[in-house]
Amino acid sequence: MSGRELSVIVPVFNEAPNVGPMVAALEGALAGIDWEVIFVDDNSPDGTAGKVHDLAQRDSRIRLIVRVADRGLAKSAIQGMLSGNGDVLVVMDGDGQHEPEIIRRLMQPLVDGTADVATASRNLQEKQIATSLSRRRVYLSQFGNLLCRMVLRRRLSDPLTGFFAIDRERFIQLADRLGDPGFKVLMDILSADRTLRVQEVPFAFGARSQGESKLDLFVAWQLLMFLVSRLTAGLIPARFVSFAAVGLSGVAVHLVLLMLFLSAAATFPVAQALAATGAATSNFAFNNLLTFRDQRLRGWAIIPGLLKFLLVSSAGLFANVAIATLTLNHLTDYVILAALVGIAMDTVWKYVMSSRLVW
Ligand code: GDD
Ligand code: MN
Repeated sequence: MSGRELSVIVPVFNEAPNVGPMVAALEGALAGIDWEVIFVDDNSPDGTAGKVHDLAQRDSRIRLIVRVADRGLAKSAIQGMLSGNGDVLVVMDGDGQHEPEIIRRLMQPLVDGTADVATASRNLQEKQIATSLSRRRVYLSQFGNLLCRMVLRRRLSDPLTGFFAIDRERFIQLADRLGDPGFKVLMDILSADRTLRVQEVPFAFGARSQGESKLDLFVAWQLLMFLVSRLTAGLIPARFVSFAAVGLSGVAVHLVLLMLFLSAAATFPVAQALAATGAATSNFAFNNLLTFRDQRLRGWAIIPGLLKFLLVSSAGLFANVAIATLTLNHLTDYVILAALVGIAMDTVWKYVMSSRLVW
């Protein structure tokens, strides 16, 4: 019943033209190793799964997982790793940017028993990055690395790399502690289990063979929220951090509107209620784009979504206005302070209810 030596997990989205070359490259690089490759496809519209299926019919080392319910690089990687048979699991990109030749070097410390995780690090070869990444990507990546190092409290040169190996046993033990860190599954793994021994292997990040990168500012946002969540030792979920950050932007909207309505001679309760409605609409829009992007409402579904969100908010709103008014009448003369107390009260309520009813 002993499994294979190696499972290569390749999350893919719209990589149909890259699948064949990838398998050929693995074949060349892994001669003599008992390996399998698992492509995890999020139901790509370009027929990636069909390409993998064709290859899998001829070669049992090639496996396919298709996910239809949601999308996500990290979730795909985790799902693939959970179904790997190999003693060593390697996660890598399917677009030709990660060279299969590196796999042997990633496996070595795990096979030797000197590490539990081996990462392919771009930053050990500084000059290579500049050639394959845009300047903006380089800065984003350096900033991300800095944040990650602070959170992990480990001296890793490239904690954001998407190319790494992990001992299957260790992974299975920590798997139920993983969250959804977007692109950054390695970060999640390392922060879920701080006893993992890590070794870095230098490599050159190649250029994409075909298609385009899916890394955008949203991914950076997800990472930031995830890191803040980890700073609270995971007590506060990343999604709530995002919800609260959006709520904070709503506070600004709220206060501006409040001042506008007050200066237009509205009474405080009326101005507070109108300002909260405006802020709720703005919050809905940002939460739809950021916090619940994976379950994003589009087209006509936005209308009932907004109405439900406003309905959920209005219950909170009622308490919000009442408490803010009471605070203003009895505790303080500061309008802003009273408004903030009201807002704080309904944030948690809104989060709990809207994640159940709206998204
Ligand atoms: N299943 C699935 N679902 N796969 C995905 C998804 C998704 O939502 N998004 C991207 N992928 C696949 C791509 O098809 C590719 O094989 C791999 O994940 C990497 O995606 P890219 O879009 O090419 O990412 P990148 O090249 O910009 O980013 C790489 O470098 C980052 C560091 O700068 C990746 O290796 C990241 O993991 C890494 O953090
Ligand atoms: Mn890529």
